[in-house]
Amino acid sequence: MLAKIDEIENEIRSFSIGNNEDLEKFRLSFLSRKSGLSSLFDDLKSVEKSEKPLIGKRLNEVKKLAETKYDGEKLKLETSVKKVKEELDLSIPGRTFSVGREHILIQTLNDFISIFQKIGFSIAEGPEIEDEFYNFDALNTPEYHPVRDIQDTFYIINKFDDTKKYLLRTHTSPIQIRTMLANKPPIRIIAPGKAYRNETVTMKNYFTFYQVEGLYVDKNVSMRDLKGVLSYYVKKYFGAESKTRFRPSFFPFTEPSAELDISCFICKGKGCRTCKNSGWIELGGCGMVDPNVFNAVGYDPEIYSGYAFGLGIERIAMMKYGISDIRMFYQNDVRFLDQF
Ligand code: PHE
Repeated sequence: MLAKIDEIENEIRSFSIGNNEDLEKFRLSFLSRKSGLSSLFDDLKSVEKSEKPLIGKRLNEVKKLAETKYDGEKLKLETSVKKVKEELDLSIPGRTFSVGREHILIQTLNDFISIFQKIGFSIAEGPEIEDEFYNFDALNTPEYHPVRDIQDTFYIINKFDDTKKYLLRTHTSPIQIRTMLANKPPIRIIAPGKAYRNETVTMKNYFTFYQVEGLYVDKNVSMRDLKGVLSYYVKKYFGAESKTRFRPSFFPFTEPSAELDISCFICKGKGCRTCKNSGWIELGGCGMVDPNVFNAVGYDPEIYSGYAFGLGIERIAMMKYGISDIRMFYQNDVRFLDQF
């Protein structure tokens, strides 16, 4: 009997308890009425009188051991659960994953592209570093023209080739020339891209901006087609209630030329800082392709006519989303960019 008690004692000592299930198993094996230890207590009655005190003492010792271990392990488990509960603050908001998105200017540009693609325009591209031929000469902008002034244009010094003057394109119009030199009419393209101007930065102007050029060349193209397509875009993008205005203007590469204005969306035409109290915002220039431009690319101006336009994407986004300061597009403040 003593050997059996020793065996149970060893079992109790080596029983490892890691969770509540183990704890319950331990209780059933050593402390419940049906446990081996309890039945040994029952057997005690039939033990010889002289051995009773010793065996009884051992049994009580081992029972005590089981109880102490049980209570200790139970306490340990309870406090570790409590600790986890205390450390776990369920009121803390979960961590959100911020999803990347397209910059608001790219979204505006893509909206522009998809409207024009649906009415048959394809996309053309050109380099941001241009030379004077594409950016000025072929666009009927002779050397003495004031827009060539160093104040407007970022020139690039090329130590290896001083036969050409390189520059950052001041508009997307050189893509007109590249497209016409590479293709025969009819032509119907839009050309999105960045342009650069050495201008003072204000809430309305930035030294770089996105522009979309449009060019349509065919027989019998008239100013009506131009007005029609631009009005169509404005109504489609800004809504049927928006107003457009074609204001006479001048560009060396178009004749006649106009400026496309739309009613200011920030003040709804009442007059504000962004529209300089006029109620109108200029989106860009347009006009009928000047015959000199056709001559420069080898198209016969007696046969072909065409229109062109160049609109500013920042201005369009400002009007669409009521943004009053152009500089916000370039400050990369996520609190601003996240809103779109
Ligand atoms: N290139 C002109 C500008 O940037 C806009 C324009 C494009 C005007 C095409 C007429 C025709 O100001």
